[in-house]
Amino acid sequence: MRVVDMIHKKRNGFSLSKQEIDFIIKGYTDGSIPDYQIAALLMAIYYKGMNEQEVSDLTIAMVNSGDTIDLSPIKGIKVDKHSTGGVGDKTSLILGPLVASVGVPVAKMSGRGLGHTGGTIDKLESIPGFKIELTAGQFIQNVNRIKIAIVGQSGNLTPADKKLYALRDVTATVDSIPLIASSIMSKKIASGADAIVLDVKTGSGAFMKSLSDAKQLARVMVEIGKRLNRKTIAVISDMNQPLGYEIGNALEVKEAIETLQGRGPDDLTEICLTLSSHMAVLGGIYHDFEEAHRELEKILRSGKALETMKQFIEAQGGLPDVVENVQKLPQARSQVEVIASESGYVHFIDAESVGLAVMLLGAGRKIKDEKIDYAVGITLKKKVGDQVRKGDIFAILHTNNRDHRESEELLRHAYKVKAEKPDQLPLIYDIIK
Ligand code: URA
Repeated sequence: MRVVDMIHKKRNGFSLSKQEIDFIIKGYTDGSIPDYQIAALLMAIYYKGMNEQEVSDLTIAMVNSGDTIDLSPIKGIKVDKHSTGGVGDKTSLILGPLVASVGVPVAKMSGRGLGHTGGTIDKLESIPGFKIELTAGQFIQNVNRIKIAIVGQSGNLTPADKKLYALRDVTATVDSIPLIASSIMSKKIASGADAIVLDVKTGSGAFMKSLSDAKQLARVMVEIGKRLNRKTIAVISDMNQPLGYEIGNALEVKEAIETLQGRGPDDLTEICLTLSSHMAVLGGIYHDFEEAHRELEKILRSGKALETMKQFIEAQGGLPDVVENVQKLPQARSQVEVIASESGYVHFIDAESVGLAVMLLGAGRKIKDEKIDYAVGITLKKKVGDQVRKGDIFAILHTNNRDHRESEELLRHAYKVKAEKPDQLPLIYDIIK
């Protein structure tokens, strides 16, 4: 087989066979196929796309390029959740304990973040003492005992995806739906998921800006799941403003705890109930979505999920008291109030600018391995649809030693205020099964 023939084939709009895809992924992973040929192939895929068979062949080839996690010692159906990411998205911290408390085993590997705030792992590390490394034995034991463990990614999972992603990043081929779908699904499958719930965000602060692209990505991922025998459901949700009110690592843990106490913001609570209901149905705990939603809402209000969160924190070496007293989370030295200079209704909050403002305060990484400040971030006091009067506080910056002027400026520009009341933004646009 010659790679040049495959580039030629794809460039002319033909499909690649499973053998050809396996050959490419194996050769690229072991270094026998050079970057420049794969770069040309990626660009051909970018323009010509891939059919469903090719995308699932690519996914499984990437799964097979490295180690896979065997979760079979864990009892029950292992349902994983993946979000395509957004500003203020702390859903994993809430729905993990929530579904675990009704018996869905949560055996999750999560990443650190590159971007406005850290990833789930960084957020968890903001809890004093919390350890994200467990031995394989401890990991399995914790999930069997308390139904939840979340650890950092380790081992050699999907090395082909790591190499391909780095190459896509420098060849302007990241935003290709078959490449994104296979990249995400390969990691979930290699991590041992039996079933997968996807939260595909759409809007100005999301990876997929348009609803039609988000739906298309969701359909391709659900189809991969079907072909590879993993029940998969995708929820298409809004990212035209940050999720919840808190953005920043420890601030997001605080809001997650408040949500587990049954007093979280409406948007965050509802997206968590929606995602966790689908997880609990796929996990075989409830018959249908309506029953799951009703029961999980009760669980959230009962404090049972909060108790699971406490056990989870304790089992991974963290300070369990944070669950009763969020003041024990890292606190920034100063709080700077941002005051509205006009009156009206909030029409829009550019999530990307808010994310950048938080990153500049030190909550996120610009480059890999950069140290982040867990305590800093932003609390929004107004969301889309809220009335604001000149002189009102519309946000609070939690800062330590960095200059906050650029963050404040970004935040001011992120808010669009108009005289008339806007229509409420939808939270969930569609469910793809
Ligand atoms: N997230 C991933 O994991 N892969 C992509 O290709 C894009 C987003």
